[in-house]
Amino acid sequence: MTSLNTTSPPADPVQAYLDRGIKNYWYPVAPSWQVSNAPIGLTRLSEQIVLWRDQEGKVHALEDRCPHRGARLSLGWNLGNRVACWYHGIEVDGSGTVQSVPAVSACPLEGQKCVKSYPVEEHAGAIFLWFGDDAHKEPTPLALPDELVAPEYSQFLCVSNWKCNYQYAIDNVMDPMHGAYLHATSHSMAEGDKQADMRVRKTETGLMFEKVGQRDVNFDWVELGETGCLWMRLAIPYKKKFGPGGNFGIIGFAVPVDNDNCQVYFWRTRKVSGWQRDAWRFLYRNRLEGLHWAVLEQDRYVLESLAPNARQHEFLYQHDVGMTRVRRMLRQRGQQHFADLDAFKAKQTEAGAQASTGHAHA
Ligand code: FES
Ligand SMILES: [Fe+2]
Repeated sequence: MTSLNTTSPPADPVQAYLDRGIKNYWYPVAPSWQVSNAPIGLTRLSEQIVLWRDQEGKVHALEDRCPHRGARLSLGWNLGNRVACWYHGIEVDGSGTVQSVPAVSACPLEGQKCVKSYPVEEHAGAIFLWFGDDAHKEPTPLALPDELVAPEYSQFLCVSNWKCNYQYAIDNVMDPMHGAYLHATSHSMAEGDKQADMRVRKTETGLMFEKVGQRDVNFDWVELGETGCLWMRLAIPYKKKFGPGGNFGIIGFAVPVDNDNCQVYFWRTRKVSGWQRDAWRFLYRNRLEGLHWAVLEQDRYVLESLAPNARQHEFLYQHDVGMTRVRRMLRQRGQQHFADLDAFKAKQTEAGAQASTGHAHA
């Protein structure tokens, strides 16, 4: 199926790279509940990945491709610290090393690390993988916003699959002004000015984009942070009847699936503890979750039906300055990726040349 807003393959290699998904970040790839006993296969950043959980509950992630003849490892069997291919039974461990080739004796494939493996961490009910390029195989430490990891916060994770490139999902969050229009009839965004001046300011980990002179009325600000992963934070004010905890926080991630699909992660957070936490969790499950889904569906509906190649035919104005800044920043990350790879390859060639000169003299 082709989606309406497919970006036709750009001639610009940086844009083509950005369309697939920016490397050298951690990304949430699945909610924790989705990975239990059987191996599962998924596509993220156009890469096919198999995930499974071992006896200790630790998640492993490999390229979803058997080294023998390319069968999907995700169709195979979970053997705890290994996964076995369904086709001819090859067993591969979490590091990507072939542990056993049961169909032949003493196969030279045994002991070889020939399947790509991904560093894995699990936090706040989601599984995060590191997508490093060749120059960044070792992961940067993953630091998540306090709302996801500090004990004084309570959160619910909401995951949704959208048929649009992930860059549209980032644009959408970096655009607070749509709250007063698209979500005008929602339970939380019916109030406040329909006009605003917006400004961008730098923060320690990224940038803040906010309305000048309006706070705590509608969707009035959004922050983007880069801390080993790319997250967005915003807060929606809540009336008293929606329970304790003050503003309602959202931490969002837009995760590339392929050029035409993404998966969005929105953690709904509140700073509540003790009985207030229980009250809020009860209220959320019974009343608020449905209302939030309705709001999120409005976003999905608009994004999935944007004009073809919408980003290439825009007239942007003052509200769009935050989004523009983020696009520029991501473009710099794309350029950096190519520069780092070039430097990495040059170093390797140099090391290779030195090694062969060494041999010649030996
Ligand atoms: S393709 Fe996997 S064992 Fe043959
Ligand atoms: Fe929205």
